[in-house]
Amino acid sequence: MNIETLPINMNYTDDKHVSVNKFCEDVISGLTSSPKRLDSKYFYDATGDRLFQDLMECPEYYPTKCELDIFANQTEALANAIIGDKGDEFDLIELGAGDAMKSSYLLSHLVNKGINFTYLPIDISANVIELLDNELSENIPGLIFRGLNGEYFDMLKKAAALSNKRKVVLFLGSNIGNMPIADAENFCFKLRDNLSHGDMVIIGFDLKKNPKIILDAYNDKGGITKNFNLNLLKRINRELNADFNLGQFDHYPVYDPETGACKSYLISLSDQQVNLGSCNKSIRFHKDEVIFMEISQKFTVQQTKDIAISTGFSPVDYLFDTREWFTDAIWLARYISYI
Ligand code: AVI
Repeated sequence: MNIETLPINMNYTDDKHVSVNKFCEDVISGLTSSPKRLDSKYFYDATGDRLFQDLMECPEYYPTKCELDIFANQTEALANAIIGDKGDEFDLIELGAGDAMKSSYLLSHLVNKGINFTYLPIDISANVIELLDNELSENIPGLIFRGLNGEYFDMLKKAAALSNKRKVVLFLGSNIGNMPIADAENFCFKLRDNLSHGDMVIIGFDLKKNPKIILDAYNDKGGITKNFNLNLLKRINRELNADFNLGQFDHYPVYDPETGACKSYLISLSDQQVNLGSCNKSIRFHKDEVIFMEISQKFTVQQTKDIAISTGFSPVDYLFDTREWFTDAIWLARYISYI
């Protein structure tokens, strides 16, 4: 995007086209809350994307490998669940498609079977959509691709306006776990509201398991998760002209096996003041004060079924990886009467 063409007061930060004003607003609102917090959606600048790629490959971080196991080894079952016995054409929509590493298995399988469908990846980054278009057209010849660049629900509305074909929505990677449970329920409810009776969603949920395995995944020995968290302070320094001293913050992950909430914090190692130059604001930190950075919620299968029922879906099938650490839940949008 050419910055010169942007409207006044909408100077954009470099990576995901977030306006400086909005970024300032969110950072100040978070750092003046009690406890202090930052929104994990800001983790993903170019460095954050790269660190997350490294994380997915590190030995302790299992969720991506589990879901890849499902998509690589149970492709036929996934495809059959999607195709059903209707044999109709459908739109396969992926929310936050990223590099579509997992869904590529499904896409190739469906194309090889001669199934009629259009793949509509939705991503907030235009760059991601362009890269995907180039890569998938080369690797999966015959795939019908229609990228949608924007916010999930705006783009779902656009997809509905583009065709009245049945919708199958993928929301993978346990991204749903990065919302507190109440927000995840609201999200599913909103998702249902944007679909029609008979449409399908496939959602990746990370499951409760031995608490040590979960905590290790968010506390890797190589320190990638720590850098992933600290990178947000670096981003604020760069984009909001701030002066966080990264050496004065430490990473602290916790997992509560009762609630399934895995939370990441940064701890201030001293009494300190941080100036947010572009926001005209200074923030004081006490020694040992924490910033809440992210939740990665873990679920029981029953919990996911309860969410499905309470938000207008019927759970129809669950696929698990070999260790049963992760599930891709297949839900159908139920008929809802608003009377
Ligand atoms: C993207 N999301 C599902 C990851 C997770 O597991 O919550 C983000 C992440 N944070 C720390 N490690 C990975």
